[in-house]
Amino acid sequence: MRIFSGIQPTGAKHFGNYSGGFRQYAATQEQGDAFFCVVDLHSITVDYDPADLRERTLDLAALLFATGLDPARSTVFVQSHVKAHAEAAWLLGAVTSYGQLGRMTQFKDKGDRQEFVSAGLFTYPILMAGDILLYNAQKVPIGDDQRQHLELARDIAERFNARFGETFVVPEGVYPEVGARVMDLQEPTKKMSTTGGTPQGTLLLLDPPDVLRKKVKSAVTDSGSEVRRGDDKPGVTNLIDILSVCTGETAGAIEVRYEAGGYGQFKSDVADAVVELLEPIQARYHELRSDPAELNRLLGIGADKAREASLPTLHAIYDRMGFVRPA
Ligand code: TRP
Repeated sequence: MRIFSGIQPTGAKHFGNYSGGFRQYAATQEQGDAFFCVVDLHSITVDYDPADLRERTLDLAALLFATGLDPARSTVFVQSHVKAHAEAAWLLGAVTSYGQLGRMTQFKDKGDRQEFVSAGLFTYPILMAGDILLYNAQKVPIGDDQRQHLELARDIAERFNARFGETFVVPEGVYPEVGARVMDLQEPTKKMSTTGGTPQGTLLLLDPPDVLRKKVKSAVTDSGSEVRRGDDKPGVTNLIDILSVCTGETAGAIEVRYEAGGYGQFKSDVADAVVELLEPIQARYHELRSDPAELNRLLGIGADKAREASLPTLHAIYDRMGFVRPA
């Protein structure tokens, strides 16, 4: 089975990204032939800084390896290293509806927030469809906010197949379970986020251990002192879910264990578990990030594998669409 996902090299990554993203990627690679792409071409569709893009691209690549992607098993690569992505985006524009692009909620939301709305922001979903379709991916692990884009990719595949002959696999989205949602520690009714949340309530994957501990210990908890999940206890529920992500224990088992406890011991255990999970990830990250030659070598292997896997599809697209191929 082919699996493909793309991750944007923007913003500092946080515990919610780990729970709903990185952790799933590492698990997914056990299920098949997995491709993970640092989608740098997508990141130029809103205002950005070139020096920043360069750093963030390498940061994210190192983090993907540090959180468990195995370069021998999975293909981890940078989108702009494989020219087929830019080419596919142009070609698939022929089978993408202008009206449908205009109805994308992410385009409308992000467009409203920009002073300058780039054409790239509008055509962004075509680039994304090409990413997926080039690899004939059956499964696409992805955030809930990307559902509409994935539906569009399916429409593009179907329209192309109907118009030019069977070429693409129609991909399916794999969405994180509701429990995989991590909330802000200070405002536990909001999703943890580096843009919409509080800095104190956001556990960054690269926060030093003492900062992580402090953030967990100052998390808001709810009235009463019982450690249990519930709509009336969003703060405690969130901490239980975080502990469950760290240790693999079920939420139910955690509730039973802390039944008689109170918040003090519980919070301190959550803090320890977060540090225990993230410390080895941080160590691998810093090791790789400080060795650009090794990081580039790994990305070179990824790009070679991605080129080889996508080239037949790219050729089929050109061929079916009636282009004369160079001799
Ligand atoms: N648009 C996705 C996001 O912002 C990133 C992305 C680009 C992607 N290409 C992809 C995700 C292909 C899955 C498959 O999260």
